[in-house]
Formats: sequence, C-alpha cells, structure tokens
Amino acid sequence: MSRTVPVPHGLPTERDAGPFAPPRRITRLREARPVSPMVFPDGHEGWIVTGYDAVRQVMADTRFSSRQDLDVPHVPYETPEMSALTEPSPQVPGMFVTMDPPDHTRLRRRLTGTFTAKRMKQLEEHVIGIAERRLDELARLTPPVDLVEEFALPVPSLVICELLGVPYADRENFQGNSAKFLEKDVSLDEKIAAYSGMTTYLSELITSKRAAPGEDVLSDLARHDDLTVEELTGMAVLLLLAGHETTANMLAMGTFALLEHPGKLAELRAEPDLMPGAVEELMRYLSVVDTVYRYATEDVEVGGETIGKGATVVVSLLAANHDPERFDDPDTLDLHREARGHLTFGHGVHQCLGQQLARVEMRAGFDGLLRRFPDLELAVPAGEVKLKTDMNIYGAHELPVTWAEPSR
Ligand code: HEM
Repeated sequence: MSRTVPVPHGLPTERDAGPFAPPRRITRLREARPVSPMVFPDGHEGWIVTGYDAVRQVMADTRFSSRQDLDVPHVPYETPEMSALTEPSPQVPGMFVTMDPPDHTRLRRRLTGTFTAKRMKQLEEHVIGIAERRLDELARLTPPVDLVEEFALPVPSLVICELLGVPYADRENFQGNSAKFLEKDVSLDEKIAAYSGMTTYLSELITSKRAAPGEDVLSDLARHDDLTVEELTGMAVLLLLAGHETTANMLAMGTFALLEHPGKLAELRAEPDLMPGAVEELMRYLSVVDTVYRYATEDVEVGGETIGKGATVVVSLLAANHDPERFDDPDTLDLHREARGHLTFGHGVHQCLGQQLARVEMRAGFDGLLRRFPDLELAVPAGEVKLKTDMNIYGAHELPVTWAEPSR
C-alpha cells in the first residue's frame, strides 16, 4: 500500500469526478490509506475511514461512540464543515442517534416494532396511494417544474407526517427548520433557533397526544409514561428529520442519475421487476448520507492503524460504497448488481431504523414517476443542477424537469 497521499486538512467534499462519484481526493485516499489521519479545520488531528471493511468494522464496534457530550475534540452533528465548534454539546433527550447503549437501546427498542419489514409491507399500498396522488398533481402542472418541490420532498414528508400523526399542513415548520439545521453556512445561533422552533411545536403536539392519543406512532409513544415529554420530543424530531430529508434526496438524485443513464432507464421501464434491485443500487451509488462521525472511547486497531482513545473519526459511507475491493467497477451504475451489503443505511446498532420504509417509498416513487411520465427529461443541462455540496446530506436543491405528455 503506498502512503504518498497527503493527510487531508478538512473533509474533501468537492464533486470533481461528477455529481455521482466520490470526490477524487477521497478515492485517492482510500487507495493509499483507507484508515488515514486527518486534520480538522480547528487544527486537531483525528481520522478518516474510507475502506469498506474498515468502515464496517468501525460502525459495528460500540467502542466508537456516537455521543456528542464526550469530553473529546468534537464534531457537531449538524455542521459537516467542522469549523464551528469543538466543545462537547449537551445530550439532547430522546435523540438516540447520538447515544450509546444502554441509553440508545432503551429508546430505540420502543420503535423497532413500528418499523419492521412486515409493518412496512402492510403500509405499501398506502404509500403508493400517496405517491400516485402527488403524481396526479404533478401531471396537472405545466412543465418545466422543480421535481424536488413538487414530488421528491412532498412524498416522504406526507408519509412520515401521517405515520407520526403530525399535520402535513404544519410542514412549513419542520421542512424550513430542518433545512436550516442541515445547511452549512448558517450560524450556530440560527441552528439553535431552528431546532427550538421544531421542539416547541412538537412538544405541544406530544402533550396534546398524551392527553388524547390517536392512531399514530407519536400517540403510541406518548402512552408510555416512563418517557418524558422532552424525550418524546427528541424522538419525534429525529424521526421527522430522518424520515423526510434523506428519502427526498434519494428520490431527486435517483431520478437525476437515471435520466443521465438513458439506457439503464429504458431497461428499468421495460422490466419493472428490476425495481427492488435498482433501488439498492441507486442507494449504493448515490450514498446520500455520505459521512457519519464517531469518537474512540479506547485505543482501537482498525486496518493496521491504531485509532487512539478520544480521537474523532469521520466515516465515509460514500467511499466505502465505492470501494472496488467490495463492489466491481464501483463508479458504474449497474442495475443488475447485487448491491445489498452497501452501507448507505449505516451498520451496527445505529443502522437506519426507517430503512424498510425508505425502500417502500423509493419503489413506489420511482415506479410511479417512470410509468406516468414516459418522456421525462431534465429541463436544464446536467451541469446546471444545483447540488447540495453545502449540506450534510447530499442531494439536489432543485431538479428542473419537463415532459411532453404524461400518461395514466
Ligand atoms: C439512522 C440513512 C431514511 C430514521 C440512519 C443512519 C443512516 C441513515 C446512515 C445511521 C446514522 C449513524 O450511524 O450515525 C438513511 C437513508 C435514508 C433513510 C439513506 C433514505 C434513503 C430514513 C427514514 C426514517 C429514518 C424514512 C424514518 C423514520 C432513522 C433513525 C435513525 C436512522 C430513527 C437512528 C437510528 C439509531 O440511532 O438507532 N439512517 N435513512 N431513516 N434513520 Fe435513516
């Protein structure tokens, strides 16, 4: 293994190899040193992990903590440029994605029954109905339209709102605030304001559900007396945030990727049975949650390197999913590939709770869109699509599309 690549200063995020491939510096780093030191923008030294096996190992090992309140150089969950803060932040009650076992286990366990593959299969017809209604509305518009605003964002927002029992009419609150929360160039004060905008709204909603529960996930959670309103609110914020942003970006970027590969798109249209495999491959190929963070609570050996106790670790899911040691010809979109085993939903105790729901939404969304809009195309040159390199979830800010004639 050659060690000629310089230690990166800051996380490489420039998409210089095209909108769908990892940054070239990330690829070179994985080839040279899949577990590499990295200098963070505040000057402290940590690690970046880019090789598939090493990424899996880190994510499976609970000695790598997800907590944000440890007394170590610290990357705030919501600021991927890592320049703003290196102080620990207090643990947010209920936000179990930033907890370790056993606190994490206690809260996550409350939800595992809700998001099983079986329950999500039962929801499938309903999700298809939601997607089809949005497509009816899309068909009534005069193109060009922004597919993000008219389809990719509304479908997962409607689904998660309905599941949680959050009125969709109040979406301005959580869509606006969560976008603020995920933007890079927003001050910490603005982020705190956005977060408290969401929590104020959701804690009132939860208090009312506790008094008069309905038939939804938040009401079910509110029936548990041992969960405080603060914990329930943190869980609700997490579900709402995780439940719409990620899937919206996948629907938009997946459509963009298919439109840029017309041969594969034609194949998928001709053979709808390819859809479940195509969704897995798009997930791998696009890796919209490109990085996650961990903190070493002990010295741990990974890939021949010793990650020292207290170190900050950036795990690149994008790099791992494009590792040629695991996936042949990884920068090629191959709808016939056996892509399961990709790390887009993470791995280990924090592996995405909503992954079955996300799969159901993507199958319904892509299937309906391709069927109903047989001549869908980009309304701008591909190079003009505004990409979310300024956010900590990858995607497109807008996807202008056009068509001649929608069909039923
Ligand atoms: C966790 C990706 C959709 C809820 C995660 C993690 C990833 C991820 C990478 C692990 C984070 C970590 O290890 O720190 C995605 C992607 C999605 C998606 C790519 C869509 C394509 C959803 C949906 C929900 C959801 C629809 C619905 C509620 C969650 C929750 C966690 C999580 C609650 C935290 C799990 C834990 O800490 O135990 N997701 N997700 N996600 N996801 Fe998703």
